[in-house]
Amino acid sequence: MRPPSRFRARRVTQGELVVTVRAIRPDDRDALRAAFHKLSPQSRYRRFQGHVSDLSPAMLRYLTEVDGDEHFAVVALLERPRRPALRALPGALFERWQAPPEIVGVARLIRLRSDTAEVAITVADALQRKGLGAHLLSILVTHARRSGVDTLVAHVLADNTPMRELLSNAGVVRTVDHDTVTVALPKRSARQADARRRAARAWRAGGVRLVLALRWLRVQRWSS
Ligand SMILES: CC(C)(COP(=O)(O)OP(=O)(O)OC[C@H]1O[C@@H](n2cnc3c(N)ncnc32)[C@H](O)[C@@H]1OP(=O)(O)O)[C@@H](O)C(=O)NCCC(=O)NCCS
Repeated sequence: MRPPSRFRARRVTQGELVVTVRAIRPDDRDALRAAFHKLSPQSRYRRFQGHVSDLSPAMLRYLTEVDGDEHFAVVALLERPRRPALRALPGALFERWQAPPEIVGVARLIRLRSDTAEVAITVADALQRKGLGAHLLSILVTHARRSGVDTLVAHVLADNTPMRELLSNAGVVRTVDHDTVTVALPKRSARQADARRRAARAWRAGGVRLVLALRWLRVQRWSS
């Protein structure tokens, strides 16, 4: 999979909510731990398939210090609206007054074989069912494809309907045993092919249309 430095951060919106999705970094350790503690017991249990009460330093290192190849991971950071009193501050000063960004989503791919990777996604409870999980999965699918992975494996409890439904939208799902599913990715979705065609047309047209195409590709709606 591609190294994290080559994954370009992108802002995505859903109504009033704005998140930035970027590659995970070692300095996300504290924010990741805070996000874990905010999860409901059910979400935690579904993600880790057991009662996990905290993330150990070793676990946090494993989850944040990824090579971007064998282990690729992104985080979704909630963008907080500027408080009116701080709006006038220049960017750098404003950042110092802002609370640190909150992780509201994590998605990772861990390569198991050359063509197969394990997938795991978590979305903060308050933001679930708004399309963020689907958006994160689409990022993983794009990276998987680019690195020759065409099969995803996920450990999903039998009663975890949200994750099972989410995966079934990505490809052909097969249950291996009661809590392991594999997803065979289709070659390329019609929407992706269409996006590429539009970007290529804009590239040929040049100038303003190119700028618009790039903005269109970078700022996507979660639900699109
Ligand atoms: C699974 C999870 C990542 C889904 O994230 P999400 O942001 O809520 O998902 P989305 O809003 O993008 O939903 C995408 C699709 O998934 C399915 N889905 C999501 N939540 C669902 C629910 N509660 N019931 C049924 N289907 C659901 C739907 O098909 C949905 O599409 P639709 O809204 O157009 O019907 C989230 O529920 C989560 O973090 N759960 C806890 C951790 C976990 O179980 N991780 C999986 C183990 S690796």
